[in-house]
Amino acid sequence: TSEREQYRPHIHYAPAANWMNDPNGLVYFGGLYHLYYQYNPYASSHGNLHWGRATSTDLVHWEEQDVALPEREHQIFSGSAVVDWHNTSGFGKGGRPPLVACYTGHTADNQAQFLAYSLDQGETWTYHGGPVLDVGKTDFRDPKVFWHAKSRRWIMVVVHPVERQVELYGSFNLQDWESLSVFGPAGATGGIWEVPELFPLHDEAGRLYWVLKVDLNPGGPYGGSGAQYWLGDFDGQAFTATTPARWVDHGNDFYAALTWNDLPDRRVWLAWMSNWQYAHDVPTQGWRGAMVLPRELGVCADPHGPVLAQRPVPELQALRQAKTVRQGDGIFSLSPHQAHELLIRWPAMPAAEVKLEFRSEAGSEVSVEVRSGELWVRRPVTLVTSSLDGYPGDHRAELPLHLDQFDLQIFLDASSIEVFAGDGRVVISDLLFPSEQIREVDIQFGGSDPLSMEVEVWSLKSSYG
Ligand code: FRU
Repeated sequence: TSEREQYRPHIHYAPAANWMNDPNGLVYFGGLYHLYYQYNPYASSHGNLHWGRATSTDLVHWEEQDVALPEREHQIFSGSAVVDWHNTSGFGKGGRPPLVACYTGHTADNQAQFLAYSLDQGETWTYHGGPVLDVGKTDFRDPKVFWHAKSRRWIMVVVHPVERQVELYGSFNLQDWESLSVFGPAGATGGIWEVPELFPLHDEAGRLYWVLKVDLNPGGPYGGSGAQYWLGDFDGQAFTATTPARWVDHGNDFYAALTWNDLPDRRVWLAWMSNWQYAHDVPTQGWRGAMVLPRELGVCADPHGPVLAQRPVPELQALRQAKTVRQGDGIFSLSPHQAHELLIRWPAMPAAEVKLEFRSEAGSEVSVEVRSGELWVRRPVTLVTSSLDGYPGDHRAELPLHLDQFDLQIFLDASSIEVFAGDGRVVISDLLFPSEQIREVDIQFGGSDPLSMEVEVWSLKSSYG
């Protein structure tokens, strides 16, 4: 492990070399989770975009594969993939349903939507001629396509970044698209809009909601890039919001989330764990860009209105290795060459301050605090991070106060921290570049009865086998 780069993640997907940004083409097919992503095979900076590829059987262990969609006369920008079960596209052969990718072909003066298909489970792809949707614009991108069973047709959600508008299109064959409706401008509009997502979700009582998510850059919660969402209805034609816009993640490093198509029984998404503010400058060696942990989505019908909940997929529990359990305050040592998971549960919202300080020999590298109904993650300025524009700072989120049980679940990896609070209602995801290896966490419970607190600290096996 001595040769291992200090910031290479133990449990998060990152390519072995070079640049990665958005997840693309997420689809579950043939027992595999397919992951494609914005990838530059030539350098660890944005440019020459291809679709890189990785596959997994459990969302935890990923195998990096050969590039799937190489750059052509245009760069291969973000998009999605579907299983065309009824062969509506006609790309299928011999009864095998094709996988069809829909991506944005990017040139300096045009962005349009193109198709490619695969007849061998996503391993090799054939480009399908010209664009299927071209409105002659410089900015028009990131098609998310899904099957809408009720109207028996494909829906494409695509964004006009500059206008801050999401447009919905419908198609019966993935090739001819008709405009259905336009959403926006709405919510946060302080930057261009990118990577829209639209999908159904049920709350615990079985009530159906549709979620519209759209990213923006800049204009996010801390001035850089960020993700916002609305809950509402989709009638096959248009999305109508029934909640105000809210941030998906209250950290600084969650962008371009996409959900898996064709996943039975649940909705899971993945996002790029970075921020366009400093994505090019992060101090990793020979590679740049990692994904967040995959998160299962739900809706909590809270008293002040329904909210999106994100919970790390339960498959991650397979990485748990050694557990330390303790009642009350204290210092836990952490193994410098592993990722860790911390779990803390309270019978109610903690009345007094709670502070977790993660330290290396150089001092505090990051801290997580719960106080006065708020969650804070503080990334101190260090020698490593002082040059990253927009990186340092305190990230804050309001916590739901009505809960009769409160929990914190924290994942600490070599260059990130993800904090899930209130059963996934509040999430803060942040990159982290400790000046030295984190070796301990000091947990301080304020208030009268710290001994009632139970803390579980797990060291985690590497997902890289
Ligand atoms: C979002 C984004 C997309 C675009 C892609 C290019 O991060 O800017 O809008 O398709 O990245 O890599």
